Amino acid sequence: MWAIEAEGLKKSYPKKIPLPFRKVEWVEAVKGVSFKVRKGELFGLLGPNGAGKTTTIKMLTTLLEPSGGTARVLGLDIRKDARKIRRRINLVAEGERTLYWRLSAYENLKYFARIYYVPKREEKERIESLLKLVGLWERRNDLVMNFSRGMKQRLAIAKALINDPEVLFLDEPTLGLDVQSAIFVREFVKRLVKEEGKTVLLTTHYMAEAEELCDRIAIIDHGRIIAMDTPGGLKRLVKDQETVEIRVRELKPQILEESPFSMAVIEDDASTRTVRLRAQVDEEDLPRLVEWLVKRGAKVLSVEKMEPTLEDVFIKLTGRGLRD
Ligand SMILES: Nc1ncnc2c1ncn2[C@@H]1O[C@H](COP(=O)(O)OP(=O)(O)O)[C@@H](O)[C@H]1O
Ligand SMILES: [Mg+2]
Repeated sequence: MWAIEAEGLKKSYPKKIPLPFRKVEWVEAVKGVSFKVRKGELFGLLGPNGAGKTTTIKMLTTLLEPSGGTARVLGLDIRKDARKIRRRINLVAEGERTLYWRLSAYENLKYFARIYYVPKREEKERIESLLKLVGLWERRNDLVMNFSRGMKQRLAIAKALINDPEVLFLDEPTLGLDVQSAIFVREFVKRLVKEEGKTVLLTTHYMAEAEELCDRIAIIDHGRIIAMDTPGGLKRLVKDQETVEIRVRELKPQILEESPFSMAVIEDDASTRTVRLRAQVDEEDLPRLVEWLVKRGAKVLSVEKMEPTLEDVFIKLTGRGLRD
């Protein structure tokens, strides 16, 4: 049996239109998304801001009713069996407002243990082991408001494990974290899957994170899945061409819109006024690409062949960088 099966999931939001116009317009945030996640799999939804990742996760965790399509989690229908599903899954939502800042770490977990009907005799032990697992046992009596962003996220993960969920959903789990905390979270998630056998669905817009963590990745853009495979399989999509990185000065980014090449900005360094571009190109076309840039006023500083990353896959599929 699959842990998650999504079939043509859709969600439209009403668009706010200023008065006096009463007409309701709809934004199609998710436009028919289908995928399946195996038990014990670490599956990633990778896509830029606004791609529809959070909306998809909210539908799968029964927080948001789909406008169309169906999904099952642990074989249960997200519309009919929402209560049953909620007992057996959990979610680390985006942002840091999912905890009670005026309560201590311990009190937060105690509160959520009660919500999930954790048996009283197990409560103490479970809270203690979770706090130790995320390295917050020594700080258990401190108020959450005094925690760093990283500590809050670790506690949010402990909170999400309070009901020992079979499927854990993580929405951008390392967004806004310092480097150390992000590493902790990634290692922790890997262990949850490898050692505890949990199923994890996470969203991210960091391609390196998706590549490092995920068994399989669905790349999502404008509400649609545009590719789905293992990280290695996705990178094979760009293997018939060369991946090159080009450093340029005085590039007007808008010229890229007319570019006949698969090319996008991946970094814009204001301090040195240099821009890093990634492109997929047939080897014999490389001189033509450089000439194309030079003709449009760009100063080409260097051209280097690179190993392709998932970002190159995204550029090839969409013609844009992940951060655009
Ligand atoms: N509550 C909402 N009302 C209206 N539009 C929304 C709402 N939530 C999200 N959207 C829109 O839906 C699209 C997808 O958003 P979201 O699922 O949050 O994407 P992601 O998590 O990938 O950044 C975006 O265009 C966003 O502006
Ligand atoms: Mg989001």
